[in-house]
Amino acid sequence: MAHLIAPSLLAADFAHLGRDVDMVERSHADWHHIDVMDGLFVPNISYGMPVIEAIGRHASKPMDVHLMMEAPDRYIGHFAKLNAAVLTVHAEACTHLHRTLGAIREAGMKAGVALNPHTPLSAIEEVLGNLDLVCLMSVNPGFGGQKFIANTTSKVARLAAIRDTAGAEFLIEVDGGVGRGNAGDLVQAGADVLVAGSSVFKAEDPLAEIDVLKAAGQ
Ligand code: DX5
Ligand code: ZN
Repeated sequence: MAHLIAPSLLAADFAHLGRDVDMVERSHADWHHIDVMDGLFVPNISYGMPVIEAIGRHASKPMDVHLMMEAPDRYIGHFAKLNAAVLTVHAEACTHLHRTLGAIREAGMKAGVALNPHTPLSAIEEVLGNLDLVCLMSVNPGFGGQKFIANTTSKVARLAAIRDTAGAEFLIEVDGGVGRGNAGDLVQAGADVLVAGSSVFKAEDPLAEIDVLKAAGQ
């Protein structure tokens, strides 16, 4: 499968959000990546339900919602109603991760788990068959525009090997500091979904930059 590109709307111009969502719609990108931050799990607060509802009115491509929040179980039903296609929770924020993943699938969404840079892959060893996507954070979550943590590339390769051995079918997503300088290596290592915020939205020509990321590692 060719890898997918998910531009992160955190790097969009919120005063022109409709325009930026339309740009992603017109582009060769695959998903909209939508970062929800609660000011507790991460220091920052981004946006919530009313904004996502508005994005959904412009978006026909799937919404890939990344919850950087404590106790995300409280909102699974809300995000299902907002038509999230993928709902990703942090392993570090879920005491009962197995139950949370089941509830996300039950609500009709793909279940994702994100791992902070310091969280070992063993954290998800017992739920490999219960998830549809693993998001490896390549920065400490909370802010766009941070530097890519190089160890992530080998983490992707190790996770791809674990997936093979287990015969599991989840997608491997990489989030944070992804751009033309590391996209090829990540795809070669086994990444299926590249999230890209600053590298896309701060580019002079975002449509062309998405094409560069789409062609990387092929
Ligand atoms: C970080 C967010 C990322 C962020 C990526 O906490 O989860 O999705 O928007 O932004 P860049 O690509 O600028 O690192
Ligand atoms: Zn994200």
